[in-house]
Amino acid sequence: MPEPKYLWLDGKFVRYGDANVHILTHSLQYGSGIFEGIRCYKTESGPAIFRLHDHIVRLFDSAKIYGMPTRFNIKEVEEGACSTIRRNNLKSAYIRPFIFYTSIGIGYNVKGKSTSVAIAALEFGNLFEGKHSGLNCKITTWQRINSSILPPGAKASGNYLNSILASQEANNSGYDEAILITAQGHVAEGPGENIFAVKDRVLITPPKSAGILLGITRDTIIKIAKSTGLEVEERDMRREELYTSDEVFFSGTAAEITPILSVDSRAIGNAKPGPITTLLSNRYSRIVNGEDKEFAEWLTPVS
Ligand SMILES: Cc1ncc(COP(=O)(O)O)c(C=O)c1O
Repeated sequence: MPEPKYLWLDGKFVRYGDANVHILTHSLQYGSGIFEGIRCYKTESGPAIFRLHDHIVRLFDSAKIYGMPTRFNIKEVEEGACSTIRRNNLKSAYIRPFIFYTSIGIGYNVKGKSTSVAIAALEFGNLFEGKHSGLNCKITTWQRINSSILPPGAKASGNYLNSILASQEANNSGYDEAILITAQGHVAEGPGENIFAVKDRVLITPPKSAGILLGITRDTIIKIAKSTGLEVEERDMRREELYTSDEVFFSGTAAEITPILSVDSRAIGNAKPGPITTLLSNRYSRIVNGEDKEFAEWLTPVS
């Protein structure tokens, strides 16, 4: 994929290759950055960013949770995202806003330290390239983080060490991706995705209390499902409920809607993308591509 030409850094454009930091930068050493993942889609009326405001609000919430000062406000970062798409002349993109501590040196204490905001936008296909029809997943031995250890509701770099270990374990055991459970044994989510199950035409997804990141795609799916007349339950799920579900899928900005064909080597349904997954996925595609009037307000035109 071609590299973008420019990256937005503290309100100015810098050349992509010149956007460098020192090795001892606090957020690089200690994982103290916070970020977002947003998609811009090609629509008939030009590129449009999906649920931009919701993502930037979550970015600022993550900053607040971690007590990070920011020099920019929500509106400025939203404008920064749009201008990064325009400046790079992108038709569609994955947008990565990142707030990080710039100080250089040793010591994790952040008292009095300042931050920078960077926004990258690059062409990006599917997170599970080549696995579009579905994934074989494994429940990892790594538990999902919880609020008394690290706040799962913040999208912070350091939180992803939990995701990396989970994914690595699943991959090393020959699976495509991991599913994390909570200390209580309830299903939480994927390393970078929320999870849904379908049983007897009811859509079930773990609640906020299961240590999940409250995904914007998750919220989108709940709203689409309700508008389609499907019943939705946000509730704790036991691990074995996944095994006996009719359908299971991941949701996320990068993963979009990705079917799960098996969990711990138990086939889900007939190990093919199920009818409700397909229905929701088709509607999701129409919405993000600007072909569905009902949810048109979720798209921010870039030009
Ligand atoms: C841990 C985790 N859960 C869930 C999600 C899905 O969130 P969203 O739909 O907002 O991309 C993500 C991706 O951002 C994630 O990293």
